[in-house]
Amino acid sequence: MTVHHSDISGFYKLSVQERRRIVSEFAGLEGGEAQELSVTGSLSELVADKMIENVISTLEIPVGIAVNFRINQKDYLIPMAIEEASVVAACSNAARIARASGGFTSESSDPIMIGQIQIIQYDDYERVKTTILREKEKILKLANTRSRTLSSMNAGAKEIEVRILNDPNRSIVVHILIDVRDAMGANVVNSMCEAVAPYIEEITGCRTNLRILSNLTPHRVARSRAVFRKDLIGGEEIARRIVRAYEMADVDPYRAATHNKGIMNGIDAVLLATLNDWRSAEANAHTYHTVSGHLSLTRYWLTENGDVAGEIEIPLAVGTVGGSTNTVKKAAIFRKILGVGDSAEFSRVLAAVGLAQNFAALRALSAEGIQKGHMSLHARSIAISVGAMGEEVDAVSQAMVLENNVSMTRAKEILEAIRSGKN
Ligand code: MEV
Repeated sequence: MTVHHSDISGFYKLSVQERRRIVSEFAGLEGGEAQELSVTGSLSELVADKMIENVISTLEIPVGIAVNFRINQKDYLIPMAIEEASVVAACSNAARIARASGGFTSESSDPIMIGQIQIIQYDDYERVKTTILREKEKILKLANTRSRTLSSMNAGAKEIEVRILNDPNRSIVVHILIDVRDAMGANVVNSMCEAVAPYIEEITGCRTNLRILSNLTPHRVARSRAVFRKDLIGGEEIARRIVRAYEMADVDPYRAATHNKGIMNGIDAVLLATLNDWRSAEANAHTYHTVSGHLSLTRYWLTENGDVAGEIEIPLAVGTVGGSTNTVKKAAIFRKILGVGDSAEFSRVLAAVGLAQNFAALRALSAEGIQKGHMSLHARSIAISVGAMGEEVDAVSQAMVLENNVSMTRAKEILEAIRSGKN
């Protein structure tokens, strides 16, 4: 089959090799490029093809270990999968500074998720609300038939709330609050919502529409705290600047987006290494200000002796059961390295990582600026991308940083010069 259009019927039925051949032809891939796509590393084509649809290959990204973490008196080595240079180094560095004051103190709430059922056709809000709340126990019981495991743990659906929204047709929304224990919870929450929606229609005579979990989890949060000594971060002036940087993020959405992005650099990297849903973590974190009232997920202040104290409060819905971790061997190994026993401990570690990552960024921004550290690491990846190998990588990248000219063109020139013995 030769195709030059994208409406390929039955693409999903083809073998991975056949799909690769079609895509290679469509995109005009050279022989070597198509061959490269067939190298799948430790995640075999067979497994990948069962995980998602229309698979043609897999993608490797580096996994580094953040060191120095001490959280609630326990030491952790933290695997981080990320393509961005300097994240792992910055995180480890902030953890080293926090460690000098005893490390991070983290805590987590119960793992309560919200399932939403939208009601779109009704006569009287108060009547619908009263009916639903009157039938609360029956609705919860029905929801709990969807998970014997949670019920046997005295978890599962616990509470019901009814809200009215300000959308053009004033939807009513039923919230089911569900304790999902060690799961991320998406599957069980969605199943429970779908199970109770027909009953809600029956008792209210209304029509329901959406039945889905909310990725905003204000009842499932983690907090972490640490002190960063002023003598380890460049002195009192830098300490004061760090607090000023945080204050800006808490009032300015343009800065808050970047500030919180830096926090998620760390958290997403751990979630990716352990193959957890980092998109839901992103959605959760970036919407949290709508219920917390704070644009910044972190907060900093000066202690009596001028050190910087920092704290993060972040909603985190992460699981240690279910999900893809166990399908992909390496992800399971990375979780073993991480050494978290349950989802609550996982969220406490993630909160500490987020705080460390954020502190590292604010410290660099308040002192030498972000580019200095970034540039030398960025220069290394540019050197590698133009083909530098072994000792050439350092030679090319150091030369570019010295010249303050980090670019592919310059990297190629320097590499050629080295190889022709001119350097
Ligand atoms: C870059 O990926 C993240 C930072 O921009 C975060 C920040 O500005 O706080 C450095």
